[in-house]
Amino acid sequence: MAAGQAKAVFLTEYPVGTPQESQFELRDIDMPSIGEGEMLCRTVWMSVDPYMRGRMRPDVKSYIPPFALDEPLGGGAVSQVMESNISGFEPGDYVVDFAGGWKTHYVSKGDRTQKVDPNMAPLSAYLGVLGMPGLTAWAGVTQILEPKAGETIFVSGAAGAVGSVVCQLGKAKGCRVVASAGSPEKCKWLEEEAGVDVALNYKDYKNAGELAKALAKAAPDGVDCYFENVGGMHLEAALNCIAFGGRMALCGMISQYNNKEQEPGPPNLVNMIGRGVMARGFIVSEYADKAMEFAMEVAPLLAQGKIIFQESKYDALENAAQAFIGLFSGENFGKAVVRVGPDSV
Ligand SMILES: NC(=O)c1ccc[n+]([C@@H]2O[C@H](COP(=O)([O-])OP(=O)(O)OC[C@H]3O[C@@H](n4cnc5c(N)ncnc54)[C@H](OP(=O)(O)O)[C@@H]3O)[C@@H](O)[C@H]2O)c1
Repeated sequence: MAAGQAKAVFLTEYPVGTPQESQFELRDIDMPSIGEGEMLCRTVWMSVDPYMRGRMRPDVKSYIPPFALDEPLGGGAVSQVMESNISGFEPGDYVVDFAGGWKTHYVSKGDRTQKVDPNMAPLSAYLGVLGMPGLTAWAGVTQILEPKAGETIFVSGAAGAVGSVVCQLGKAKGCRVVASAGSPEKCKWLEEEAGVDVALNYKDYKNAGELAKALAKAAPDGVDCYFENVGGMHLEAALNCIAFGGRMALCGMISQYNNKEQEPGPPNLVNMIGRGVMARGFIVSEYADKAMEFAMEVAPLLAQGKIIFQESKYDALENAAQAFIGLFSGENFGKAVVRVGPDSV
């Protein structure tokens, strides 16, 4: 059995509105021990993701069960195997799995676990560009939007973990890319480093009409493809500018996740009819069987520097709640990750 104390973060109450740090508590827990067919893992990096907010609404039916208040929170993590009773996993191996977030140690059965190579990319990248957000971006672009060279893609939440990969895949496919993000620094990075054609700071626009005007200028032939991460005024602006035969990949609507009441839908949905627009919502797990295809396309682009990424790194489990809340304030830039333990033992 591993020596030392394990720790985990618990939710003390379900947030209403924007989550508060006081609703999260770091507690000591017993160091877990393993049985047959199990391994003990030590979390190195954990991911904070917007979908976790949905797991804090026990009253809303979802594709994933709500968090329980009396159990440690969970989520994606890169971990190191410490002890193993599973063939194929040895102490020292690095793995990504769905159980290791928000805690220092945990027991894995290895069923939703993948080994990762620390020599191929920094370990934290397996939670971002080479992980779930990267697969989400790739699936939305290649399986739903299917952009052709010369078409225009509009991406909301463009400086984030998913959006930044969407933008760069769009450029790699020869498209004009118009991005929206929430600060001058993010827009500068999108235009000067990630290579998008125009980045709009949506905070410069008071309403959907103003944003649509700027979008129409940036996309003079219309928006052929819209990758939706934000909802609200972004969706309305995209619907104003959508081209005939446009496609929309509905990935997320983060502007609504902390709403206390449901927002009315966009008033211009009717544009979809006359313009023959296709909209498809999706969850990344639908495309789990395409993970290899994704890696074969994105890993070389990453190695060639054709895809770059930003990370907001937080240190220690004590700051995990701050990292999570930062998803909703725009404080994070790129993929938000929390270092839970050292990169190697
Ligand atoms: N369908 C799926 O399977 C799937 C999988 C992964 C993620 N998603 C969704 O994809 C979206 C992006 O996820 P991510 O992991 O890449 O997160 P992220 O973009 O790395 O982080 C969230 C960012 O969203 C922006 N944001 C937050 N509140 C906003 C608001 N009210 N209005 C406009 N922008 C706001 C902030 O950037 P700014 O500074 O630009 O405001 C923030 O940094 C989310 O909606 C998420 O739920 C869906």
